[in-house]
Amino acid sequence: MSYETIEVRSTDEGWAEVVFNRPDVLNALNLQMVKDLSAALEALAGDASVRGLIFHGAGDKAFVAGADISELVERKVDDALMAINAGLFQKLEDFPRPTIAAIRGYCLGGGSELALACDLRYGSDDTVMGQPEVKLGIIPGAGAPHRLTGVVGTGMARELIFTGRLVKAEECARIGLLNRVVAVESLLDEARNTMRAILKNSDLAVRLAKVALNAASNSVDRRHMMLECISQGITFESEDKRERMTRFLERKKAKEERGDG
Ligand code: COA
Repeated sequence: MSYETIEVRSTDEGWAEVVFNRPDVLNALNLQMVKDLSAALEALAGDASVRGLIFHGAGDKAFVAGADISELVERKVDDALMAINAGLFQKLEDFPRPTIAAIRGYCLGGGSELALACDLRYGSDDTVMGQPEVKLGIIPGAGAPHRLTGVVGTGMARELIFTGRLVKAEECARIGLLNRVVAVESLLDEARNTMRAILKNSDLAVRLAKVALNAASNSVDRRHMMLECISQGITFESEDKRERMTRFLERKKAKEERGDG
């Protein structure tokens, strides 16, 4: 399987690894990556030899630094109603086998929402997570109000979403956003060792345990998903959002003009 923005690596140990591969933009999630991931998840879910997935980012700076702001700035209410990222993350949460996010560096916005849809999150010393959407004039509209609340509790989820502050690895582990934090050189080994331990167990039992855990967890109800998308659609059309995102994108242009881009 070959894709434009991700790499799917099979292993001979029973799991596959999905690598986000846009390192020049810190693996920001654009529409092509959503399409690639969606197609890969469908193919991998239908492959009985794949009993688990490990996700990581190319390069040494990021897992996924959020949705691609150069595309977000142009999105309108109709785009929001298509539930582009929300639909993908639901598909990821529903993946029939265990999924592990191995998070090196930045994991922000839609990247954090993607990681929240995985079963386990492992980080390294340099991991930074957060939901900075309100700084850009939008809301985290692809599951964070639900899944982050389920993972860190309502008080902390509100603090993180309202302030948009970035959270370093140690605090992520303390509040339960990361299952564990290890040295960056050991991150993939740690995720792979856990996957090996899972795969020693009964495939049927693990699959059914995941179904039961998803049913018991704070999974996103379709109506709640649409509420987030409608709210996102309102913000997508606001002048405030355009100004805030343009400020981010112009910082980039200014860097290029200075010749240090
Ligand atoms: N969308 C599009 N491009 C992004 C991006 C995103 N979410 N995050 C980073 N990039 C790009 C930058 O524009 C830059 O591109 P350039 O080299 O062509 O200028 C490149 O990735 C490297 O990022 P840069 O900002 O130069 O790195 P940094 O180390 O100074 O800062 C961050 C890292 C993560 C703090 C900063 O990139 C950032 O704030 N990104 C946006 C995070 C965000 O708000 N995500 C939520 C979106 S909903």
